Amino acid sequence: MKLGVAVLAAGQGTRMCSDLPKVLHPLAGRPLLAHVLAAAKALEAERVCVVYGHGGEAVPAAMAGQGCAWAEQAERLGTAHAVLQAMPALAGTDRVLVLYGDVPLIRPETLRRLIEHAAAAPLGLLTMHLADPTGYGRIVRAHDGRILRIVEQNDAVGAELAIDEVNTGMVIADRARLADWLGRVGNANAQGEFYLTDIVALAVADGETVGCAAPHDEQEVAGVNDRVQLAILERWFQAREAERLMRSGVSLADPARFDLRGRLETGRDVAIDINCVFEGEVHLGDRVRIGPNCVLRDCAIGPDTQIFANCVIDGAKVGAAALVGPFSRLRPEAELADATHVGNFVEIKKAQVGRGSKVNHLTYVGDARIGSDVNVGAGTITCNYDGANKHLTVIGDGAFIGSNTALVAPVTVGEGATIGAGTTLGRDAPPGKLTVARPKQVTIEGWKRPTKAPKA
Ligand code: UD1
Ligand code: CA
Repeated sequence: MKLGVAVLAAGQGTRMCSDLPKVLHPLAGRPLLAHVLAAAKALEAERVCVVYGHGGEAVPAAMAGQGCAWAEQAERLGTAHAVLQAMPALAGTDRVLVLYGDVPLIRPETLRRLIEHAAAAPLGLLTMHLADPTGYGRIVRAHDGRILRIVEQNDAVGAELAIDEVNTGMVIADRARLADWLGRVGNANAQGEFYLTDIVALAVADGETVGCAAPHDEQEVAGVNDRVQLAILERWFQAREAERLMRSGVSLADPARFDLRGRLETGRDVAIDINCVFEGEVHLGDRVRIGPNCVLRDCAIGPDTQIFANCVIDGAKVGAAALVGPFSRLRPEAELADATHVGNFVEIKKAQVGRGSKVNHLTYVGDARIGSDVNVGAGTITCNYDGANKHLTVIGDGAFIGSNTALVAPVTVGEGATIGAGTTLGRDAPPGKLTVARPKQVTIEGWKRPTKAPKA
């Protein structure tokens, strides 16, 4: 079975009160539409076509490289009309699944169930029972339980309004049959729109039975119309991620104060304190402990390492049994070996720090190779940038860099060298020796502190 997916995303999203098209608003760090496309991908859809609205060119631009086709619906004439726009791009597929760009949390498992339940029928609907069905299209069934049609809220009368089984909007249909039904849908209804839901009555009139399946959770089929609904779905998504992690052996100090905006891979007995944000691809080894208020993006932290409060780690690698923070910033290509210590107000960028080395206070290390067992004193700066180019600083094993040293790159400190505090190192320092460059200290004998002139 070759699956085609039509994603409807032509809505204006007026209630978002935003210059950004609704389907590009992020949930868990990714555009709403990206979640839907990921679900389509998980189903191994042969073709995916997104129907976007007039003036919504920002949507295809933002989603370039996703491998889907785009169809513009210049006028918003209804959901059937929207699906029709996607049909040319879905030629060659056997069945068409209709999804929505603003219904981000639909699970591939649910869609798979829908596809399977409707395998024998040319049409299948994802429906569910709701305590309050107001606003939704209602599923009208015959006495024997067969689905007969869908009636929209605005067209429903009498007992129809009391039906609590609703149309989620998601539909699977035989492509050729769908094309035929879509061509026969009219717009003589309360909203003057071409309703996709009308294909149900057309299928039944053709003597077909209509299949159906239900989602696991209401949130899977919940649409985002405003920022309040978006925030509710975000929290639900995060609660699920938090629960999944806890069940896999991660301790979260407070699952309600945890945010994952990407993928987090964890070893055993990892502990994460409150208010941490994980973005991109993050790997935490066994027994890693993350203090409160940390942001970790695209990084790998080795086993037994502790990240103390308020660290920002981005594109860095940290070895085993290291201590980082509080208040450390590791930037892209920072690589800390095992048993390193990086302390408060230290920034490290594109630099390797060797095993057992310590960079404990108020330091900038950029474009550097630091050997093992090096001690970098407080206030050390690698002066890596000359205003035009970046240059390398190399520090050999066992070196000791005194506090407040400026290392003017390119420069090399030899193995076991000691650099006196306050040195501005403009030339290489030989191994094993003390190098110090600072003005000679003088004491002026007989000097008197000035006194205030007496008032006239
Ligand atoms: C639709 C269903 C309703 C269902 C409900 C679930 C129809 C006629 N009704 O109603 O049975 O219970 O969804 O939320 O299908 N869209 C376009 N182009 C259009 C019209 C809509 O792309 O011309 C997109 C919208 O961006 C939106 C989705 O389709 O994402 C649903 O459209 P909307 O008008 O909100 O339909 P509902 O009235 O909610
Ligand atoms: Ca809607």
